[in-house]
Amino acid sequence: MIDLATYQPQGDKENSPFFWEYLPKIYQRRAESGLDEIVGNMAAVVIQVEHGDAIAYLAELAVMGPYRLTEARLTDTHKVFLLTSRPEFPRLLVIEPLALDWEDKITEWNSLYPLAARKPNARYIGEVYEATSVEAVRTALEPQSIRFVYEGDTKAPLYCTDHLTFTFLSDHTYNRVGYVDVAIDDLDAVGFGERLVLTAAEQATLDAAAALQAEHGIADKVLGLDHMATRVLAGDREDAILEYLTMVPNYFWGAYNINEMNSSTNVTRTRTNDDDKCSPARVFTANNTPAFVNSFEGLPMPTEDFVRNFGRRMHHMAYAVEDGNVVDEKNVDYVVRQLAELGTPFLADVVGECTDEPNLKQIFSKSSPYSLLITEYVERCHGYEGFFTRDNVAALTQAAGEDERYDHGHVFD
Ligand SMILES: [Fe+2]
Repeated sequence: MIDLATYQPQGDKENSPFFWEYLPKIYQRRAESGLDEIVGNMAAVVIQVEHGDAIAYLAELAVMGPYRLTEARLTDTHKVFLLTSRPEFPRLLVIEPLALDWEDKITEWNSLYPLAARKPNARYIGEVYEATSVEAVRTALEPQSIRFVYEGDTKAPLYCTDHLTFTFLSDHTYNRVGYVDVAIDDLDAVGFGERLVLTAAEQATLDAAAALQAEHGIADKVLGLDHMATRVLAGDREDAILEYLTMVPNYFWGAYNINEMNSSTNVTRTRTNDDDKCSPARVFTANNTPAFVNSFEGLPMPTEDFVRNFGRRMHHMAYAVEDGNVVDEKNVDYVVRQLAELGTPFLADVVGECTDEPNLKQIFSKSSPYSLLITEYVERCHGYEGFFTRDNVAALTQAAGEDERYDHGHVFD
């Protein structure tokens, strides 16, 4: 358990006096309001895809990572797909609107941005945390100006059931945080409609994807989610971190300046788990200076370019790759080579070195056509204790930026 009173954050990114004033106050308020006791591990990650995309997305997930469908549900507005990796790791909840012309707040927000407008319902929604009582969460956080979804605030009832509550979309991140006070696997208790049976063709698609992953020796090497990284505007960086730390019992692990990319990487992590994969780290990335002054220095600025093209949103989900070798190839190199053979496109090459020293190797895939999320694979070699290396992040950020440019003339209406 990390002691918040004595922990010294890592990294060289400077924070303002405002940040250092309010961080300990927020920790203290969390303890006093009981939030640290009420809220536990991350129970699930929620991703919405366009109408008709869910099965293809689930098949993509089955090739690329550990998540497998365990149950499907039909609610009044969405199909809901519950996916599981290991029992102790968070679930994935993939939701797909029933109507081709579905529109809600997410559609409106996506429609504001040139590259998000093409998939206006595709969005990483947010994380759901275990809670002792959703009412207790609201009682603790509503006096702190955290807004929750009530009936009438949403067209999709799944955002406010008796045992699952979500915040409004954050103005700083465009993500929600959810809280569930029953077992996430008990979809009757969660209040997610009735059981949905896949067609034979849908089931065959998912089985074929899983079989392909197994045949290529990938299945046992990709573990659970390691972290998820949201991109926000330069001016929202500290607010986004502090707001998140208001809502969940993470701690500010630290922040590194990636000066040559005009950005910083800011990490919040779980305090109570030896294994981050039980409650993956939440990372926030932002430009150091806003886009409109960047040309004074003329630096690349892929982070804020991404936000201007897609809106504030989750940029990537990272899977931990088990440390080890396949013959003389590191596991991450092996996994990436196999996935590339299966047609998964990657951005540049694996970065980082794993020789005799503790270190890490990482790579980004191209973004999914269904979720718009990049998948990162990270292998921590020889018991690497840190969370990431500055040089790797710089290289990854650059690679992603080259793939996310906006060319004028895209269809945008
Ligand atoms: Fe990452």
